[in-house]
Amino acid sequence: MTRLRAAILISGRGTNMSAIIEASQQPDYPVDPVLVLSNRPDADGLAYATKFGVTAIAIDHKPFGKDREEFERAMQNVLTEQKVEMVILAGFMRILTSWFVRQWEGRMINIHPSLLPKYPGLHTHQRAIEAGDGEAGCSVHWVTEGVDEGDVIAQARVPILPDDTAETLANRVLPAEHELYPKAVKLAASQILKCRP
Ligand code: GAR
Repeated sequence: MTRLRAAILISGRGTNMSAIIEASQQPDYPVDPVLVLSNRPDADGLAYATKFGVTAIAIDHKPFGKDREEFERAMQNVLTEQKVEMVILAGFMRILTSWFVRQWEGRMINIHPSLLPKYPGLHTHQRAIEAGDGEAGCSVHWVTEGVDEGDVIAQARVPILPDDTAETLANRVLPAEHELYPKAVKLAASQILKCRP
């Protein structure tokens, strides 16, 4: 079976990254996470990836200052070196430039902790509670130039309970993310493989 070489981009604890790496241990999983890239050298997810034998690299965005594209060119060099075919954003908290998005058009996906198109951007759980919504959830979507605007691949829903805070709701959504993301990665990979020459 052809397995797509994927990079998982993180900024922190990397629990979604872990869920994908664990799913990829199944021999019939169509994606091989060959690289984990973090923009923060202290991201907890880096050590976890190394434990699973996945190459883990940090490229600190800070020395690049406001030059986001220069930072992304450094990432792109590593992605090219590692022959990456698909990019999976998993809690990667940098907004990407049009330049980078174009490099990966149709081959890059993201998980967002809301039922898109509701609540793109930050503080999603707080906003869902304040709006009086009865449910919240997470969405996996293709990455396009507009932030959190690409077509949705899959969603999972959880109820919002009367006493919920942003924290209790986030704790309910996160396990749903861990269940959803490995499945959505598989779906996206099958589409990418179909388009591959
Ligand atoms: C997840 O909840 C993910 O949906 C969110 O960051 C968290 C990362 O957790 N992503 C965004 O908010 C992107 N806009 P993790 O590092 O444990 O996977």
